[in-house]
Amino acid sequence: MRDIEAGQAHPCDMMPDGQLSNQVSPAYGSAGMTRFTVNGDPIHYKMDPRTPLLWALRDASNLTGTKYGCGAGQCGACTVHVDGVARRSCQVTIGAIEGSFVTTIEGLTADRSHPVQQAWVAESVPQCGYCQSGMIMAAAALLARNRDPSDAEIDAAMTNICRCGTYPRIRNAIRRASEAMRGGESIAAAPPPRIDAADAAEAVPALTPVKRK
Ligand code: FES
Ligand code: FES
Repeated sequence: MRDIEAGQAHPCDMMPDGQLSNQVSPAYGSAGMTRFTVNGDPIHYKMDPRTPLLWALRDASNLTGTKYGCGAGQCGACTVHVDGVARRSCQVTIGAIEGSFVTTIEGLTADRSHPVQQAWVAESVPQCGYCQSGMIMAAAALLARNRDPSDAEIDAAMTNICRCGTYPRIRNAIRRASEAMRGGESIAAAPPPRIDAADAAEAVPALTPVKRK
């Protein structure tokens, strides 16, 4: 298990009233630590348990594929999987998910081989790209529980916001991934990543996490 230490709850991630939607028990106190597994790696976060998961992932673990958009649970840019369920990580405190298994866009696959990722490339879904990791995580969670969603079910599940308006391509990509997951059309492989995300983070001192043994 790795230990990671970082700062307190990020002020940008508070609700307008200064509260988080998943407040931890007062028994945790204002300082403490919590443990859960991120992308298969057990991590002991020496952080305030009230810290939003989004900031533990981005600021402490350098998993910057998960984006900050609104900080209010509205946009979905921060979507990750917690125990296989799509969650908006700006609205989940780390203390509330003690012992859980978290998957971020970096951990969905190591080689972009998930059918959703393949379909996203094949359909040229992204425009600016900012919302897309959250979109992909929401789509992957949808198809994990329902491999053949109707358009209505897609629309109900995909409540994330894309300011570039890529919604039609997102729906097409989900349909295409669904088909592939059900053994139909295969999707041409997406190109492999040119640089490992962990290597990239290590090369940027400002992104290097504080680690303790
Ligand atoms: Fe979490 Fe917008 S940043 S929903
Ligand atoms: Fe730009 Fe969605 S692709 S916000």
